[in-house]
Amino acid sequence: MPKPKIVYACQNCGFQSPKWLGKCPDCNQWNTLVEEKFERASHPRDEFNLGAREQPTSIAEISTAEEGRVLSGIGEFDRVLGGGLVPGSVILIGGDPGIGKSTLLLQAFAALSQKGLTCLYISGEESQRQIKMRAERLDVTSPNLLILSETSLERIIEQIKKIKPAILVIDSIQTLFSSNLPSAPGSVGQVKECSGSIIVLAKKNGLCAFLIGHVTKDGSIAGPRVLEHMVDTVLYFEGEGSHSFRILRAVKNRFGSTNEIGVFEMKEAGLKEVNNPSELFLSERPLQVPGSAVVCSMEGTRPILVELQALVSPSFLAIPRRTTIGVDHNRVALLVAVLEKKMGVKLFNQDIFVNVAGGVHVDEPAVDLGVIAVVASSYQEKSIDAKTVLFGEVGLAGEIRGIAQAEARVKEAGKLGFSRCILPQSNARQLSHVKNPELTGISSLAECWEILF
Ligand code: TYD
Ligand code: MG
Repeated sequence: MPKPKIVYACQNCGFQSPKWLGKCPDCNQWNTLVEEKFERASHPRDEFNLGAREQPTSIAEISTAEEGRVLSGIGEFDRVLGGGLVPGSVILIGGDPGIGKSTLLLQAFAALSQKGLTCLYISGEESQRQIKMRAERLDVTSPNLLILSETSLERIIEQIKKIKPAILVIDSIQTLFSSNLPSAPGSVGQVKECSGSIIVLAKKNGLCAFLIGHVTKDGSIAGPRVLEHMVDTVLYFEGEGSHSFRILRAVKNRFGSTNEIGVFEMKEAGLKEVNNPSELFLSERPLQVPGSAVVCSMEGTRPILVELQALVSPSFLAIPRRTTIGVDHNRVALLVAVLEKKMGVKLFNQDIFVNVAGGVHVDEPAVDLGVIAVVASSYQEKSIDAKTVLFGEVGLAGEIRGIAQAEARVKEAGKLGFSRCILPQSNARQLSHVKNPELTGISSLAECWEILF
């Protein structure tokens, strides 16, 4: 038996070093290396062998009989998963504390267990009574919904083998520990070991497992990065603490498209789906005020209308402020430079604040035109027509470039009662059949000016 080796593993990224270091050379975090015992298995463990002695098979002969997806009944949740849950898949959900991860999964479980599927909810954070209290608040009861408060991996595996659930939640993966490893729960070694065992169990038995993961202060899932590679799907549950709505986003999905989002609103009785997010994001919009405009951004296949706001005011600082929330800071700096150079708007002595109302993040070139328009609108104290939506990419020469999926955006604007769309000329030409809203194609910033101000 080889002597156990000691390694120092970074708790942030999983980097391993034979010596202790103050700073992880991989992720540059300080004081994240922790001593862990590292045992090299003398032979590969059979339980980690997924394919159990399979022979290579011609791709033409592998059966693709699609394993039936299970719908949770929560439309927004199913959409993000790519159209329902796939048996045998493992889904990692990350998010800030208190954002509603446990609530979301408990609600999804309620719907699934109603269909007669055995659901096992394993919590390492809350007692059975606490979960029951939450379930009462959410009005969740079902004999098929089993709750287990447990943190030992071995006992969990034993229970899973006994109960044979169809769907499983581990809340959270950082609280589990395996007695095979001497390191503390939540350490890289433990997280890797526990999730590895659960993934193998899920694949072998065709059960769908959700792993809830804590996030670090920079917002990524705590534990080794490799965890995100091991699972099939990685979802992030996001939201601004002060706002009640939450966005579920897929960043990796082996069974569907990423970039799909699901929008929820946190109410007293749990999360409610928001079927028309544009309506929600625009609900408190001030009408006909300077520095406000509506843009259309795509989130996956789905157009979302959001309100962009800007405030431009004289600066008393040597270097004026450029603050952005929800849009890329560098992109805004670039657009402000285009605005100064091409339209002669003098902003060098102005503080500029740009915000996407409602705590939404948009990172698409299609919002360029909107950013320029709101900054100019606020500077000139002239409002933009409240019934107008604008989108288009702005180039450094002040030209307006075409963007993808213009038709979906225009339709969404029409659906929400906007009467005019200002969009790139090239897109407008392709959409000549659209009558409502009225389309105004532009090819330069100067043309946009004539229409807006
Ligand atoms: P929770 O699911 O416990 O968050 P996480 O598991 O991501 O840490 O959600 C907790 C928050 O949600 C808590 O701050 C209160 C709020 N909440 C409601 O507003 N309504 C509800 O019905 C529930 C269950 C929670
Ligand atoms: Mg929780």
